[in-house]
Amino acid sequence: MKILITCKLPDQLLLPLKEKYEIVMAETENEPMSRKRLLSEIEEADGLFTNVADTIDEEVFDRAKHLKVVSTMAVGYDNIDLEAAKERGILVGHTPGVLTEATADLTFALLMATGRRLLEGMDVIREDQWKSWGPFFLTGQEIYGKTIGIIGMGRIGLGVAKRAKGFSMDILYHNRSRKEEAEVELGARYVEFDELLEQADYVVLLAPSTKETYHMMGAAQFNKMKESAVFINTSRGPNVDEDALYEALQSNQIWAAGLDVFQTEPIDAKHKLLTLKNVTALPHIGSAAIETRMNMARLAINNLVNGLEGNALVHQVK
Ligand code: GLV
Ligand code: GLV
Repeated sequence: MKILITCKLPDQLLLPLKEKYEIVMAETENEPMSRKRLLSEIEEADGLFTNVADTIDEEVFDRAKHLKVVSTMAVGYDNIDLEAAKERGILVGHTPGVLTEATADLTFALLMATGRRLLEGMDVIREDQWKSWGPFFLTGQEIYGKTIGIIGMGRIGLGVAKRAKGFSMDILYHNRSRKEEAEVELGARYVEFDELLEQADYVVLLAPSTKETYHMMGAAQFNKMKESAVFINTSRGPNVDEDALYEALQSNQIWAAGLDVFQTEPIDAKHKLLTLKNVTALPHIGSAAIETRMNMARLAINNLVNGLEGNALVHQVK
């Protein structure tokens, strides 16, 4: 059987696979396989190992003649057409759990970096603009004891709430369902979406990307936020109307934004959001800790092999 891997994985992970399967893999580090090659190689593939950089749509499934399983090295699967997979009886696996804490760490790091203007500080030094200590030089927002509003209280949201508790923050959350664990153990308070936007000093978006969450943060929502508020997005770009976010930041309707995800990735270096000093931008590295990425890759391989051998996936997307 043939496995198509659209990114370059370390040899140590591939060795056990090579004994049993034919492997076709991207050759270049940090560069996805081209769409053209993916469309051609998928024809004979039995298994596909993918990630957030690929769009696995109807066109891909139509080309595939033997595909049994698609395994993504990610928790999010909005890049995969689940309907098209289901119609063809193709299983889809993903990697929840193993990236929860690393992504919560990165989310909190981005919150702190944005609130306290860390990257601007580095720029000031690099550009030789550090002239002296100034009473209000590079002053940001306090974090300790402030109010955090978490939109999307899944595993990662809960991880962020735990970190917020360590900073004595008041924790508000909004989610489709109530989360008793967060309420009882962390004192998190469930509030309506609008109330969260109005009260939070840090609004943290962690909802998955679906039809319902498309542009859930738009002009009306940014309008409700405090002028001193910081917006953080480590979920998915399409959840945010980037034009509305740009307007809100540019007109100081909100104070700053920390973004790890964008509507189009990689974001164009000339994108208007990146011209703003009150934007801290990262290249989609929420889960990018070495051990975490190894664990994600191993889990994705297990999903793939299980699917190929006719066994239940460790984590199958429903
Ligand atoms: C990355 O964004 C993931 O969904 O794991
Ligand atoms: C993903 O792991 C989530 O549920 O937040």
